[in-house]
Amino acid sequence: MDYITLEGIVRETEKASRFEHSLGVVEVSDVLARRFRLDVELARMVAVFHDYSRYMDAQAMLDFCLLHRIDVEEEERQSPMLLHGAVAAWYFPRITNIWDERAFLAIRHHTLASRHMGALGAVLYVADYSEKGRRHLDDNDRLEIWGQPDLEHMVLDVLSREREYSYDVNRKFARVSSECMEYLESGGRFAR
Ligand SMILES: [Fe+2]
Ligand SMILES: [Fe+2]
Repeated sequence: MDYITLEGIVRETEKASRFEHSLGVVEVSDVLARRFRLDVELARMVAVFHDYSRYMDAQAMLDFCLLHRIDVEEEERQSPMLLHGAVAAWYFPRITNIWDERAFLAIRHHTLASRHMGALGAVLYVADYSEKGRRHLDDNDRLEIWGQPDLEHMVLDVLSREREYSYDVNRKFARVSSECMEYLESGGRFAR
């Protein structure tokens, strides 16, 4: 399957505003994938599909993960809506017939980030946070994030903003997210 076909499938499933967001994520992912020499077509497909399972009921997502033996983080158990990435990652190869671990891991970890999400996951994570429809950022914030020298620093930048936001709303910063920060701060790199 190619990008255009997949975009058509997603367009049918998502409501207009969500689909707009998905296209925004595709736009940023495309630029980042070119800049860091990753598979551009795959990055676009992963981007357009990442929120595909957003409309499933929260309890149904949890049941789905148990049924398919998908590992669930404590934070995800408490807020099952976070599992839309895990569910979409399961569907991606079954809909596209692209059985690519990089794509799977990128979609799986797009909500909380993970040191295991890979360079493609870093692209998706940064694009999801910074696409132009996101109102929580202004152009200066975007330039700050996109101006970082590599994907690792971009993800670190986004994670620090997410951590600050967690403090502000009095929510615990997820274990996988802090683990990813520590990994990057000690010089860890994403698999390519
Ligand atoms: Fe999402
Ligand atoms: Fe998203």
